[in-house]
Amino acid sequence: MCGIYGCCQRAKAAKSAIGGLEKLEYRGYDSAGIAFLEGEKIEIIKSVGKVSNLKEKVGERVSNLAIAHTRWATHGKATTLNCHPHTSKNFIIVHNGIIENFKELKSAASEDFYSETDSEVIAKVLEKNFENLTEIKDVNERILNSISKTQNQLVGSWAVILICRKNPSKIYAFKNKSPLIVAKGKGENFVASDINAFEKREKNLLKYYNLNNGNIAEISRENVYFYDEKLNKIGIKEIKKQCEIYQENCNFKHKMLKEINEIPEAIYSTKKYIKKSDFKKLSKKLKNYSKITIVGCGTAYHAGLYGKFILEKYLNKNVSVELASEFRYKTQIKEANELVLAISQSGETADTLAAIEIAKKNGAETAAITNVCSSSITRICDYVLLTHAGAEVAVAATKSYVCQILALYMLASSAAEKRIFRSLENVAHKAILNFSLENLKEFLGIKKFFFIGRLCDSATASEGALKLKEIAYVHSEGYPAGELKHGTLSLVDENSLVIAIITQSEILDKTLNAVHEVRARGAKVLIVSQFDLEGEGKEVLLPRAREEIMPLISVLPLQLFAYHYSDKNGLNPDMPRNLAKSVTVE
Ligand code: G6P
Repeated sequence: MCGIYGCCQRAKAAKSAIGGLEKLEYRGYDSAGIAFLEGEKIEIIKSVGKVSNLKEKVGERVSNLAIAHTRWATHGKATTLNCHPHTSKNFIIVHNGIIENFKELKSAASEDFYSETDSEVIAKVLEKNFENLTEIKDVNERILNSISKTQNQLVGSWAVILICRKNPSKIYAFKNKSPLIVAKGKGENFVASDINAFEKREKNLLKYYNLNNGNIAEISRENVYFYDEKLNKIGIKEIKKQCEIYQENCNFKHKMLKEINEIPEAIYSTKKYIKKSDFKKLSKKLKNYSKITIVGCGTAYHAGLYGKFILEKYLNKNVSVELASEFRYKTQIKEANELVLAISQSGETADTLAAIEIAKKNGAETAAITNVCSSSITRICDYVLLTHAGAEVAVAATKSYVCQILALYMLASSAAEKRIFRSLENVAHKAILNFSLENLKEFLGIKKFFFIGRLCDSATASEGALKLKEIAYVHSEGYPAGELKHGTLSLVDENSLVIAIITQSEILDKTLNAVHEVRARGAKVLIVSQFDLEGEGKEVLLPRAREEIMPLISVLPLQLFAYHYSDKNGLNPDMPRNLAKSVTVE
């Protein structure tokens, strides 16, 4: 995963880079590092832990050029030695991605290695190529040729930003598979893993460009030049930044809480803007596909489970849902007229992108529901539906999940020519306002959770359990209510809390049966429902909406409960251990 940032800017480059890393921290936060030009000298500072540690170490520095990195370790532990930037004699690099052939390249390199990372090899290979290109006299040209040659030798995924000691007034960037965006300004230019990492400027002062695989960017304070892999100068189409809900300064203790509170606005914006994308085209075609497969990872996969429910209900058509990480390796059975629909908040998840590539090779049409308009997935799918949740930074997906559910509901409704339930943002607002931790305090110390539900409530159960695992580090399972008695029930005892989600009247009694069964085994029970089930035990009563879209509402108290559980237990819900938000490695 990892986040990378580079900038050429008068005096403030180091400060800008640290600010950029803070915004990229959702991509990894086990260590961070920076290289910046101070006078004639290139300073490199590294630090284990969060970006705030690095910030403190760097302090106030005057610099015109900097590159920086925040890490999510793949090869080698989070130590200072493994921390980026990585170096060779002349090259200083930061890298996001995985170099799959690093062992092979390492054995052919001429310098010694000091780290356990795959990334260090990039600096060493660049060096070797640079050494071998002495016939090129112009140093800029020699660097560009070294990059081009290096790209041909690397296998895997990379977004790299570098400084070469032989020409330290410029930074260079190149990529394959991992995202890289350039922002062009007046007398200042930037490059980073994410469009939201750049400093805010007055309207239109920054122009954004999304690099394609193989592209190289040469960046100075005055100019940016783009090249293709053969080093022909090229133009890249400008991309627009999505309108943003995100506000920097807020009164919430954590970003996750802020993002949950942004849900009503995110619903409103998604309802309004999703139709601007390929929504109509896709919804018109939907009925005609002979097969629909939904793919995604983590929370997006849970949204896919809801997608199956709503598309089957409204279109009377079989829909399958697959984890993208499994789909990409399974036997591909060719079927005429198939749609593979990927769901991905970031649009950068490696497994989801790979699943789409495979579906395309197999002749399927492809579509994406994503929250990031400039993401890789938008470039490879035939149809793109953009949710407008606004930037989501906390690792646990909250408002993006709600908007994915909404997108699927709107898509199914439109394809089936049904009117949608209109006042969803108001109902969501009410559900958030109604949430009371006071009523749930007794559950904050429990260490064993089971979330149960049937039909679309089982997707919510899985998502509720995942939230708690991710940010509160407690054991929790999400189960279709009927499955409990086929094994899991043996784990249920008086130390367990079973959270039953009941929003569909047709299976109300059936899920209540499961509630009785767990209560008979001594478990504590919490019911989450819009039906007043007084007498069945403690309940979080939800405001009412049309039943088919209740999963958008019922997940809200579960997100809030997980947040408070994490916070009350002294954890940081925004940055859970071992995880990162954008999983760009396989
Ligand atoms: C990571 C995140 C999850 C997210 C999943 C898929 O695991 O921590 O919150 O659901 O990736 O991400 P995507 O961007 O594809 O939705």
